[in-house]
Amino acid sequence: MRLMTIAMGSVFLVLLTINLFLLSSAPIGRAKIANTFIRSEWPSDDIPLRHKVFAIPKGYNAPQQVHITQGDYDGKAVIISWVTPEEPGSSKVQYGKSEHEYDLSAEGTWIDYTFGKYKSGYIHHCLLAGLEYSTEYFYKIGAGESAREFWFQTPPKIEPDAAYTFGIVGDLGQTFNSLSTLEHYMQSGGQAVLFVGDLSYADAYRDNGIGIRWDSWGRFVERSTAYQPWIWSAGNHDIDYMPNLGEIHPFKSYIKRYPTPFLASGSTDPLWYAIRRASAHIIVLSSYSPFVTYTPQWIWLRQELSKVNREQTPWLFVVMHVPMYSSNDVHFMEGESMRAAFESWFVQYKVDLIFAGHVHAYERSYRISNIRNDVSTSECFPVLDKSAPVYITVGDGGNQEGLAGKFRDPQPNYSAFREASYGHSILEIKNRTHSIYRWFRNDDDKEVATDSVVFLNQYWQAIRGGED
Ligand SMILES: *[C@@H]1O[C@H](CO)[C@@H](O)[C@H](O)[C@H]1NC(C)=O
Ligand SMILES: *[C@@H]1O[C@H](CO)[C@@H](O)[C@H](O)[C@H]1NC(C)=O
Ligand SMILES: [Fe+2]
Repeated sequence: MRLMTIAMGSVFLVLLTINLFLLSSAPIGRAKIANTFIRSEWPSDDIPLRHKVFAIPKGYNAPQQVHITQGDYDGKAVIISWVTPEEPGSSKVQYGKSEHEYDLSAEGTWIDYTFGKYKSGYIHHCLLAGLEYSTEYFYKIGAGESAREFWFQTPPKIEPDAAYTFGIVGDLGQTFNSLSTLEHYMQSGGQAVLFVGDLSYADAYRDNGIGIRWDSWGRFVERSTAYQPWIWSAGNHDIDYMPNLGEIHPFKSYIKRYPTPFLASGSTDPLWYAIRRASAHIIVLSSYSPFVTYTPQWIWLRQELSKVNREQTPWLFVVMHVPMYSSNDVHFMEGESMRAAFESWFVQYKVDLIFAGHVHAYERSYRISNIRNDVSTSECFPVLDKSAPVYITVGDGGNQEGLAGKFRDPQPNYSAFREASYGHSILEIKNRTHSIYRWFRNDDDKEVATDSVVFLNQYWQAIRGGED
């Protein structure tokens, strides 16, 4: 595995050099890339429940589906969540800075819920607050023979040159393609995941199957989510609006299972919130909650954008489910309503990157905007705009719906790179000015041109009258 990483590393260096060259010789490179590569893929069926990736941990009432997320605004807290199947048991987390020695503990709470006839296990959430930055913590949950131990690393303190590596994963589901994405992600050095929505795809099932597949997904992703925070955003497959089962509260399963630190950013809803981590300010939006003028999400976003301090956190990212720019036939223009609502703010505040999922393919745009339109002139097409974000769609996690293989032809001029393969992205922030971005196709131990770009920070660029 180590060898493979090194091999991939050198391929990557070559690619990076080429891209650096392209970037410097053609400032706004107009070479559009539409890779027609189609890798051999596994069928898109979900992995059978009896498979070992869903194994139930040994021991009576052993904690399962362990996952962590950032628990506050600035990265000094973590929410630890898990499920006990037989009885509530303890909601306590023991933790500390050395392995097996837990000098600290925190008490959490548990909840359960029903979904139609399905009855969930006991879902525990426990906040560990007041953590030190850049520190490895070990933690233990459960009791006696059934206890389980994990660890995580806190981020560096909020500081403009803090280096940090994010992974971007979306539309994951629970197929063998999903497993491949997860395993590739875990080899690529990401320290936290920006998850762009559509977690389990449990909504494809009926009756009890829906809850059972939320549970199996929790066990499936635990190999990563127990050890590093996944920053959640919700997609359409997380809505679970099923009046036929009497389930009329959208996002019930998602919200019960995947808490977010929304209160810390003054949000009134777990579906949209913001966190700061290392040198990044990350805004999570909900594509499926009201967002037009004067709605709670709109009011909150306006407030949050005005709070962003680029001197402290130069990197500004937005995470949402439905892409505002995509040239795929599937879900074409579904993001138009949110684009109309928010795009001018994203340009005004010089957002660096906007990550989305939903479309089961990969695509990256140029820095473009389409904000001149008013209904009296109908001047409505994307133009190059150096203040605008780059839009990246990473809906290629590998769920049971398969790939969105058909892009619009010809490739529109706002689209810089697109390919219908499964994969994930990595964004390596180096300092306040430079970050290295890469998209990995799942089978990438070969020399194939995955996408890689050096992004210069939009704020520092503007201050220095940058060349991008
Ligand atoms: C796309 O092409 C149109 C027509 O040539 C042009 O007006 C527009 O500026 C171009 N947009 C981008 C993003 O290059
Ligand atoms: C920021 O990182 C880039 C890429 O590693 C490097 O070339 C540049 O010199 C760094 N800038 C500063 C101010 O350290
Ligand atoms: Fe979706």
